[in-house]
Amino acid sequence: MNIFSCLCIFVLFSAIIAFIPHPVIRFGGQAQDSITHTEIVQLGFIRSLARFFIDVKTQDRNKIDIQNFKNEHTIDELYQLAHPDWTKDKIKLYSYPLKSIIDTIQVRNVLVDLNPLTQNLPSAHFDSESFNESNHRIMRLRMKIIEDVRDSNKNLDSARGKIGDLLHTLQDFYSHSNWIEMGKTEINPYIGIQENIGRIAEINQATCHTRGCKKVLSNCNIFQAYFFKNCPMEYYDCKENIVDEINKQGILTSGYVSNQFNDKGEPVVKPSNVEKCSHGSVMDKTSHQVPMGGINKDAKTPMFSPHYYLHDQAAKFAIEATERFFNDLRKDIGDTNFDRLFAINPTEEQIQKAAIAIKDHEKFHFLTSTLSIGLSTGDINFDKTLKQRIQKIISLLFNIKDDTAPTYDLSDSEVDKSSVNIHAAPLLIDNSKTIKRRQFGRRRYKWIMI
Ligand SMILES: *[C@@H]1O[C@H](CO)[C@@H](O)[C@H](O)[C@H]1NC(C)=O
Repeated sequence: MNIFSCLCIFVLFSAIIAFIPHPVIRFGGQAQDSITHTEIVQLGFIRSLARFFIDVKTQDRNKIDIQNFKNEHTIDELYQLAHPDWTKDKIKLYSYPLKSIIDTIQVRNVLVDLNPLTQNLPSAHFDSESFNESNHRIMRLRMKIIEDVRDSNKNLDSARGKIGDLLHTLQDFYSHSNWIEMGKTEINPYIGIQENIGRIAEINQATCHTRGCKKVLSNCNIFQAYFFKNCPMEYYDCKENIVDEINKQGILTSGYVSNQFNDKGEPVVKPSNVEKCSHGSVMDKTSHQVPMGGINKDAKTPMFSPHYYLHDQAAKFAIEATERFFNDLRKDIGDTNFDRLFAINPTEEQIQKAAIAIKDHEKFHFLTSTLSIGLSTGDINFDKTLKQRIQKIISLLFNIKDDTAPTYDLSDSEVDKSSVNIHAAPLLIDNSKTIKRRQFGRRRYKWIMI
């Protein structure tokens, strides 16, 4: 591995039509200070797990220090609190099945952005004002998950996968809609639960204007020139470009994106006879069509997100909505099934499999054991999460032994790595470390095919 193969990690791009799917893609997109779908899943789950332990322990009439459970913890730390007499090794073994399940959910969440069936489907991302369709998708998946888990004969893997699919769409509501721009201070409690999730903009109702959007021209570096062709890159930095009345009246809108198709395969096109919002980003062609700009909050950089300055708020709401999904699911299926679904107290068979995986130094795709969060909103410490992630990626790049670092590798998930299309996935770190050589001007750069 040489310096150039490392450098490229910082400059390659991928399709970003949602919160960035996972850290390496985000790294590639020069949005390394953004929170990704995989982190949102894990942080939301840790909170729900803390609540599970608190409730179970309280029912057992055990004397427990509830306040301590509420503090910032990793998954391992929560297990240690729940089982004070366990050794570190026992915690590692008994929490492994649960971590492995969360990892599966993270992978499926990421694949919503990479799978050709859902990548450009508005209802998988709350795009193009597809509020009812997106909500129906979540409701449908939720019903299936509950049905599967209540059937004690059913293998739970399918339900786990569907949780990943569902959470992706749920999380995107906060970075794609104008919920935050409306000034909301809490998540939308109706998504995935009932038909009516609030008033939605009419087909012929204007929702955005160009006013408030500033065009940015940015020179390409060598890798950007390779991936984008259009240089200098053009994108928009937008403030207050949503029609005031829309936000004031609490009417929902979301942005149109280029190259989208509904589930019947029909193109979903940004209208030209009424001023609708765009998603926006250097890759969204509709952002150059009046009204110019966009409203997404997927990343913390204007190159990907015209409303980049609201990204942290969107990520916080997405974590809360994720936690709420898990808490509600637990109410619906009961504690015993919830325990079974996530292997909180693993079976003998699960423990044996875990022992083998640990012995073989098997790694997770995305699950990061060092990630931690507490139960109060003020506890969300994104800076710490981001610093840890950089360490993990560096340890991966330089083969530094770090058992807690995930692989960020999706080569076992039928992702088409050969595609050069930025909407596909040539941008994932591949564990097989395929080195490609390309000619850039007179210099030769080597890079890992991510
Ligand atoms: C969305 O669903 C709600 C509730 O069923 C309904 O009142 C509304 O007309 C629907 N809106 C659109 C745009 O389909």
